[in-house]
Amino acid sequence: MRDRLQQQDREVAASIAREENRQRTALEMIASENYTSDAVIAAVGTVLTNKYAEGYPGKRYYGGCEFVDEVEELARGRAKQLFGAEHANVQPNSGAEANLAAYYALLDYGDTAMGLNLDQGGHLTHGRNINFSGRMYKFVHYGVDRESEQIDYDQMAELAREHKPRIIVTGATAYPRIIDFARAKEIADSVGAYLMADIAHIAGLVATNLHPSPVPHADVVTTTTHKTLRGPRGGMILSRAEHAPAIDKAVFPGIQGGPHMHTIAGKAVCLGEAMTPEFADYSRRTVDNARSLAEALQGHGLRIVSGGTDNHLLLVDVGVKGLTGKVAEKALNSAGIVVNKNTIPYDPKPPLVTSGIRIGTPALTTRGFGRDEMKRIAGLISRVLGSVDDESTVAAVREEVRQLASSYPVPGLPDPVAVA
Ligand SMILES: Cc1ncc(COP(=O)(O)O)c(C=O)c1O
Repeated sequence: MRDRLQQQDREVAASIAREENRQRTALEMIASENYTSDAVIAAVGTVLTNKYAEGYPGKRYYGGCEFVDEVEELARGRAKQLFGAEHANVQPNSGAEANLAAYYALLDYGDTAMGLNLDQGGHLTHGRNINFSGRMYKFVHYGVDRESEQIDYDQMAELAREHKPRIIVTGATAYPRIIDFARAKEIADSVGAYLMADIAHIAGLVATNLHPSPVPHADVVTTTTHKTLRGPRGGMILSRAEHAPAIDKAVFPGIQGGPHMHTIAGKAVCLGEAMTPEFADYSRRTVDNARSLAEALQGHGLRIVSGGTDNHLLLVDVGVKGLTGKVAEKALNSAGIVVNKNTIPYDPKPPLVTSGIRIGTPALTTRGFGRDEMKRIAGLISRVLGSVDDESTVAAVREEVRQLASSYPVPGLPDPVAVA
């Protein structure tokens, strides 16, 4: 297959080869990224991309769907089994579309909703004014406590009493602590609101019981499939049976057209993988690694937001070193350590500058990195952050990163090829 691409379209093949080399030689520490298995990549790279299948298994608008029906049934069944959910819709093309569909199913235009503030860990689709969610619904935002830097459930309850939202959205994109879905459910019930949990980041940890599940509490659970769940890029919605017709109608014909059947095949494979003891062990190591990294960075004098982590990511306050997240991200990237700048709670700096960086362990744990390597990486991060303007330090760390990375192959990647 690769040879054929190389022969037919050298430009695209060369860009892909360069990206493969980047993935191979750098330390991928963006908390929302992972290396999916070669089985998932194989499923996604199939002729299922050729098939139109608007509708759902057994109720399609096109002929010839008998085999893609099998694939979608496998994915739906595995999703329900893995998360203990009454209903699953595996068609959303992304996490953002899963959230759009969930709101479309449960809310009317102009309804009041509540979500976590973006500056304190929430996601754009949780009501930011530059996103459809903030334009279509009246979002009110709860936040984290200034001292503990953890979600302030008392504030959530107070705001819910005051604003009577129709839905309370829990879940986050940059929050390192356990989310108390049971408490959020009590608050939602106290004002007659729906509870939605967006577990895009923590789905793999929920699937392996390393994070409490929202499924017993929430009306609707949305997720991506490509972060800690380690599947293909995509989204998914789990819900109570009573919401199944509305959710299915919202996804199609509500907001999407023909489902991406090749991706749904990849989702089925990843959901099968997530049921194995190997995946449970992988998730446990991901969390252990995040904890080890946080402790080691603290040992180097860096402040970790909320004092540590319970999951796969940590937020580092680089302001204490006199840096911005923007400068730290750039210097670390030059050294081959790929992270993203991120606001920290009550950040005085704007979102494109920030005082923090977000670091995650899912991808490196997939490559086989363990606690000792996390300590070593903490040392490398500290060296770069201590000399962001010193090109020779950054270059020396880049070389060490290259050596370290070369001992840990990336799943799904062929042997290096020379690229232009
Ligand atoms: C909590 C949360 N929800 C939704 C999304 C959106 O997912 P996607 O990028 O697949 O649209 C993200 C992505 O970062 C996320 O972190």
